[in-house]
Amino acid sequence: MIELSKLISSVEGSATLAITALVKKLKAEGKDVLSFSAGEPDFPTPTFIKEAAIQAINDNFTKYTANAGTPDLIAAIIAKFKNDNKLDYTPDQILVSSGAKQSIYNVLMAICNPGDEVIYQSPYWVSYPEMVKLVQGKSVIIDAGPESGYKITPAQLKAAITPKSKVFIFNSPSNPTGATYTPEEIKALCAVLVETDIMTISDEIYEKIIFDGGEHYSPAQYPGLKDKIVVINGLSKAYSMTGWRVGYAAGPKHIIDLAANLQSHSTSNACSISQKSSISSFDGSNN
Ligand SMILES: Cc1ncc(COP(=O)(O)O)c(C=O)c1O
Repeated sequence: MIELSKLISSVEGSATLAITALVKKLKAEGKDVLSFSAGEPDFPTPTFIKEAAIQAINDNFTKYTANAGTPDLIAAIIAKFKNDNKLDYTPDQILVSSGAKQSIYNVLMAICNPGDEVIYQSPYWVSYPEMVKLVQGKSVIIDAGPESGYKITPAQLKAAITPKSKVFIFNSPSNPTGATYTPEEIKALCAVLVETDIMTISDEIYEKIIFDGGEHYSPAQYPGLKDKIVVINGLSKAYSMTGWRVGYAAGPKHIIDLAANLQSHSTSNACSISQKSSISSFDGSNN
């Protein structure tokens, strides 16, 4: 038998997807199981979004789109950033992909060289360490246990930074802990980051799932940091569209360009129908 890729053989399959499959199997066998695996809203995709998809099919919007996303969806994403996060982006700073998972992978691939250190906290989303392996980077993990509310401190971040640090992955609200940093806590971490050349990937996929009146703050809002941040978000969690596969990255053009090149040779555009319905998700209408 030929020897297969050492790199891909070193990567674990997604534990979340494996547990989700197991839960489905046990439920099919009639067992009463509660799933704490995939982060998935427990309500169906709203009707107006489904209707927009049906309309897109009937309008024959079923061909390849621009690699980086349709201009109308990119415009809707830019408007979302402006309205929700007070952030200004130009169309060439946005890349739409097949889920935020692909967005993060594209961006890590665009930034990292073998041996680069990627800092993130534990507990973490299961795909971070495996993606770091895929880009041949080195994970530098900061422990954040229950005693700190599953949050890291600026001092811990500072101590984790070395001359080899390339990327900091930040995820608030967090999967799996649900820990949500306050704007003040995020600003304190930003004050460390702004003094470095490290790129931050801010995974904000759970932005809309904040309870107790908490406020979402993107590190890209911190003065002087926007050029060192790629914000990741998507439709999966906010609009219960996990199966539709639409995510997006917003950041410096030179990084987005490289990530888009990679995507152009791997998956091309995100699903045309899902892109059309995503526009109606953002503006809450059936257009
Ligand atoms: C922290 C985190 N980031 C990103 C994703 C990817 O979401 P999607 O690819 O469905 O947009 C998930 C999904 O579970 C997640 O939990």
